[in-house]
Amino acid sequence: TPSPRVEKLLEAMSIDEKVGQLTQFFFFDLPDDAPAIDLPGESGDGAAMTAGVEQALDHGTVGSLLFVTDPAATNRLQRRALEGNRHGIPLIFGFDVIHGLRTIFPVPIALAASWDPALAERAQTVAAREARAVGIHWAFAPMVDIARDARWGRMIEGAGEDPVLGAAMAAGQVRGFQGAGDESAPAVTTGARDRILAGPKHFAGYGGAVGGRDYDEVDLSDQDFWNTYVQPFRGAIQAGATNIMSAYMDLNGVPATGNRWLLTDVLRDELGFDGFVVSDANSAKDLATHHYADGAPDAAARAIEAGLDMEMAISEPSFATLGDAVRSGRIPEARIDESVRRILRLKEELGLLDDPFVDEQRAAEVLSDPAHRTESREVAERTAVLLKNDGGLLPLDPAATPKIAVIGPLASSRRDVIGPWVFDFDLDETVSVLEGIEAFVQRAGDQGAGAAEISFARGCAEPKRLFPSMFEMFGDNSPSAPEGFDAAAALDEAVALATASDVAIVVVGEQQDMIGENASRSSLELPGEQQAMLEAVAATGTPVVVVVMNGRPLDLRWAASNVPAILDVWYPGTKGGEAVANLLFGAATPAGKLPFSWPRTVGQIPMTYSRTRSHDPEKQGRRYWDDESTPLFPFGHGLSYTSFSYSAASVSADSIDLDGTVTVSVEVTNTGRVAGAEVAQMYLHQRSGTSSRPLRLLKGFRRIELAPGETASVQFEVGPAERRYWSAATRDWVLDATTFDVWVGGSSDASQHAEFRVTE
Ligand code: IFM
Repeated sequence: TPSPRVEKLLEAMSIDEKVGQLTQFFFFDLPDDAPAIDLPGESGDGAAMTAGVEQALDHGTVGSLLFVTDPAATNRLQRRALEGNRHGIPLIFGFDVIHGLRTIFPVPIALAASWDPALAERAQTVAAREARAVGIHWAFAPMVDIARDARWGRMIEGAGEDPVLGAAMAAGQVRGFQGAGDESAPAVTTGARDRILAGPKHFAGYGGAVGGRDYDEVDLSDQDFWNTYVQPFRGAIQAGATNIMSAYMDLNGVPATGNRWLLTDVLRDELGFDGFVVSDANSAKDLATHHYADGAPDAAARAIEAGLDMEMAISEPSFATLGDAVRSGRIPEARIDESVRRILRLKEELGLLDDPFVDEQRAAEVLSDPAHRTESREVAERTAVLLKNDGGLLPLDPAATPKIAVIGPLASSRRDVIGPWVFDFDLDETVSVLEGIEAFVQRAGDQGAGAAEISFARGCAEPKRLFPSMFEMFGDNSPSAPEGFDAAAALDEAVALATASDVAIVVVGEQQDMIGENASRSSLELPGEQQAMLEAVAATGTPVVVVVMNGRPLDLRWAASNVPAILDVWYPGTKGGEAVANLLFGAATPAGKLPFSWPRTVGQIPMTYSRTRSHDPEKQGRRYWDDESTPLFPFGHGLSYTSFSYSAASVSADSIDLDGTVTVSVEVTNTGRVAGAEVAQMYLHQRSGTSSRPLRLLKGFRRIELAPGETASVQFEVGPAERRYWSAATRDWVLDATTFDVWVGGSSDASQHAEFRVTE
């Protein structure tokens, strides 16, 4: 139903004013001495760019700004935009609110490791509240790109390799940003005050970059596209996502941002999306850079013809030429109106047409809300994955191990604990792993639990990227080793400390600027001298706990066979150090599960558990002659401080019709001595069909909290939606009549089996 208010505005607007609404500018409120901007496709003088945007505001030809996080600045710019716009149309501010604004939450791959969409919803609810308080109305998140190639740095921003987990996590995050919504309610529910638009990205296939090289082209088969890469977008759209960002790269030879099949046939007709589509930075103008469009005017016209609604511009937007495209008859004005209508309707729904400013005093209160920090710590505790724990080394008992060594440059870093893709953080309140451990032990000692002694050694220099991060201009590069750092002395110190200690906690991983956008790499080794440091510490014979900070699998082959305990804590956020300490000492019990298959070597990439059997592996021997083809840790793997047993799986019917549903049931019991959470996972396989189908596909999962001795009964439905797939044989969706296997358990190696038959 049309909005009378929006229709009235459209009638009164000139074509250039309309095109202005379709334009979004980066606005860098940088200090005068800031270095030159260097972003993909553009470089220039930050101050000149800023002045250019302010002028465009005066002409009323800006629809949106991004990258402004200060409430005084959003108010100032909003006021200027309103003064320059004769219709009084306010700006919509967008930003990369990826895992928190001021309170930083664990990175998105960590949220996925919780296998708990409601937890992701909680995290993004807080992020939305903080963002909205400062005047940000729209998050460029969640990133829902499937990632099966760990070389790709942006794996950290998504939910890993699986479409079902990916769709559920996408939906949880959308609900967190926008509110729960329902069909009769506006997309952005629960009052305009605390919610923002969600913008799932990057449509579509961006995670399939050839060689894991960020921004490189993507060649995806149709079956991968439909069965895997598109599914998280479907989940996000079904949860009510109001925006989609188009991807930078070429998809099968056609740039995503100028791809009509992608942006209209798939996105609108197949997936039913009815919000607006924004380009990635400069990706409309860059249709010419791709050697696809013939200059900026052709790029703008082809993007709008494809279905793009708004151009995100770092410099002169190509959309500035759209007025001429309408005047020359190339683009019908009705097509421009369609996009303007989509954007104005959301401005109206957000309440911006009536109330475009924020209360700066309230913003300060919201940003400092202690409840947000508690929420962040609790979320972090639920995302860690215990990869290995031989002999129950964890949790540590400070009374039994009174001398604890903490080793590694990442252990003492506050900047690294919050990870990449954060801009408005406060390092003063951030807790490093070392600080968290020290505080925990101090508190335990104060409460009479016996004092432990914590000592720290850096062990090696902070590793460095070979080429600098493009985010260095925001001053968020990771800490470096101090001037005159003596590597040999640092290693000796760490070895001596480990020798004199009862246990050594060695923190390893990638510094935060080694992962994220523009942070792909060609190897998965621990960067710098961390591997040598780890081996030297372990050689002392002191039991070693490895704590991994990462956003993708790293080469942990040596650690997996040589140290007793490995805890993956990702980049756990503002109170990350507190969460890690609680996990190490058993005040919290790990329950995360891997959202990707952890490869042994970079040579196994791309890797997924959901492979087809293909040519008989038994008859033809191994897939590689120099290594296993199995992962180091399987998809869905994660241990606990307690243990769980699964009953035999059962199905509600031996045989069903094509449109029938079976219920798969299993009982899960906590057989250990402490409370814990388990993620029960259900995998499906079909024995024959129109296509060869993967040996296993995740089709259901549930995270359950169980007290010691407690049993929960868990059910999963397998209906047409779970069995349907896109086949290259018919180039369509199919449902096959055949025998199906199900397995239920705590990882993709699940072993409780049942079967049922589907008949025509
Ligand atoms: O949102 C991001 C996107 O993911 C990558 N390019 C820049 C955008 C805005 O910062």
